[in-house]
Amino acid sequence: MATISAAQTTLRTHRAGSISREHLGQVVRLGGWVHRRRDLGGLIFIDLRDRAGLVQLSLSPDWTPPAVMERAGGLGAETVVLVAGRVELRPNPARDEGMISREVEVYVTELNVVGPAGTPAISVARKENEELAAEELRLKHRVLDLRRPELQRNLILRHRLAQRARQVLSHLGFLEIETPILTKPTPEGARDYLVPSRVHPGEFYALPQSPQIYKQLLMVAGYDRYFQIARCFRDEDLRADRQPEFTQIDIESSFVTQDDVMGYVEAILTSLWQEAGEPVPEPFPRFTYRDVMERYGIDKPDRRYGLEIADFSGALSDDAAPFLRVAGQGGIRFRAIRANGAAELSRKDFDQLTQAAKDGGAGGLVWLKRGGSEWEGQGLKAVGGHFAAALAGNEGDVLVGVVGPDPVTSPALHLVRTALIKRLGLTPTTRHAFLWVVDFPLFEPDPATGEHIFVHHPFTAPHPDDVPFLETDPGRCRAIHYDAVYNGTELGSGSIRITDPALQQLIFKLIGIGPEEQRRRFAFLLDALATGAPPMGGFAVGFDRVVMLLAGAPSLRDVVAFPKTTAARALFEGAPTPVEQKDLDVLNLTIRRPTP
Ligand code: AMO
Repeated sequence: MATISAAQTTLRTHRAGSISREHLGQVVRLGGWVHRRRDLGGLIFIDLRDRAGLVQLSLSPDWTPPAVMERAGGLGAETVVLVAGRVELRPNPARDEGMISREVEVYVTELNVVGPAGTPAISVARKENEELAAEELRLKHRVLDLRRPELQRNLILRHRLAQRARQVLSHLGFLEIETPILTKPTPEGARDYLVPSRVHPGEFYALPQSPQIYKQLLMVAGYDRYFQIARCFRDEDLRADRQPEFTQIDIESSFVTQDDVMGYVEAILTSLWQEAGEPVPEPFPRFTYRDVMERYGIDKPDRRYGLEIADFSGALSDDAAPFLRVAGQGGIRFRAIRANGAAELSRKDFDQLTQAAKDGGAGGLVWLKRGGSEWEGQGLKAVGGHFAAALAGNEGDVLVGVVGPDPVTSPALHLVRTALIKRLGLTPTTRHAFLWVVDFPLFEPDPATGEHIFVHHPFTAPHPDDVPFLETDPGRCRAIHYDAVYNGTELGSGSIRITDPALQQLIFKLIGIGPEEQRRRFAFLLDALATGAPPMGGFAVGFDRVVMLLAGAPSLRDVVAFPKTTAARALFEGAPTPVEQKDLDVLNLTIRRPTP
């Protein structure tokens, strides 16, 4: 077999962006897109772009044939050309051109247009200070947008990270195994995308929300360590860090404990950070769910900053206002954040912090600020003189607090903390704050119905010490479930799984799935567990989120080639679309049209 080069083809010798000093004096053939063209009185300069970057083409009557000069003079942006020429030193190498080689250029002797281009709807090469086109327009013209060097860098990084994950996992003995895309619905707390079956009218497949059950079945089948860079589909409300289809680095392994799985995940994550040039130490610190909720009010805290929450209920006395005096009783607490040296906070800032607390579900915010030797502020009367007298502080110190049950104060104070960090412009104490959150509760109350619902998915093993309380006091049961958190983002989550079919049936029952429904939906899993199941656990890293963070991109859409909008539309290709009745007939489906 002929040797295949990583760049050279029959039509070109190199990638344009790879031309450097080492090619000086060589005649090269390049193919790429016209990024920019400048005509300077008889000389023409073209920045030629491909996925490796840019190179300057230099055309002059001294070395370029007249026909080529003429052709080049009419070239529009984004035209695809094939060129040939000699690599020479740039006479004026100091001009800063961003990605372009500042040292060398190509003296063009041949140039042919192979891909004419109309006027681009959005500019790929932006002028200095030119803003990006509106996102909707960019998504609509995604092919042009994808030519932007920033997006090309992001997708190249994505490729490298995926390869690195594969390498690390293969090295650790994980087998890459594909699981079906046409599956049976699985409950993961989000909605399924359904696919009608043509051959079985009225029946549906579901696209997988994750390969969860399949990876457990692979463990029961004896594959021991599985991984997959798996596409998952969830029909849920979208945000900047959510897409309806996304990718997980999904792993599962047998004969393991939580510590083993956490070790594998640390190995993956540290390798990915290293691949992106950001070495990070392991092991990551561990916190219990209860601890992070107490100190940060959220299960994915940003630990690059201080400003922890503390309980001030005990410091209130009889002179506090009635709404605060109840703190310390019946699960009501007065929890607050101290920010020292925050003299710059104005009344308007406190109004904004109050709004943050309200957005988090609190009735309001109690705030105090130290002016000179006394505490002042809107909350002074409410907390009462005893509290203020006992509270030490220096000029400019601030205390912001919320009273209520923890499910109210935690989210409110999380938002207040986030707003404070932003307003005070705090410098992070570290660039990379990884942590583990462990000992999650197994159940949480459904805000709508108050019923117990699963925090993770119903295959998560309860803590063995808590199994006796499953039926009598589900609220106190912990799960062997662990999340990896980075700078305030949940990177992934996992758990040890239930392998005892009887316990699995009990859990199903507790979340309202009766015996008949269990057989209908999960017989394949329950029966498989009864064939001999090893202890097992796993994890899924949200791969898009990792790439987004490592690329420094603001949205998942910047690290996915063809993303959906927050309204779950693909603007470029135009999906979803209505389907003609004749196509629905094949599937035996009728659409119920809303009555006009
Ligand atoms: P979970 O549902 O927590 O766990 O998902 C794991 C990680 O996947 C990422 N993620 C998303 N990324 C982009 N868009 C989305 N819509 C989206 N939803 C989730 C997050 C999340 O932490 N089967 C279990 C894992 C296991 O138990 O092994 C699961 O899917 O980063």
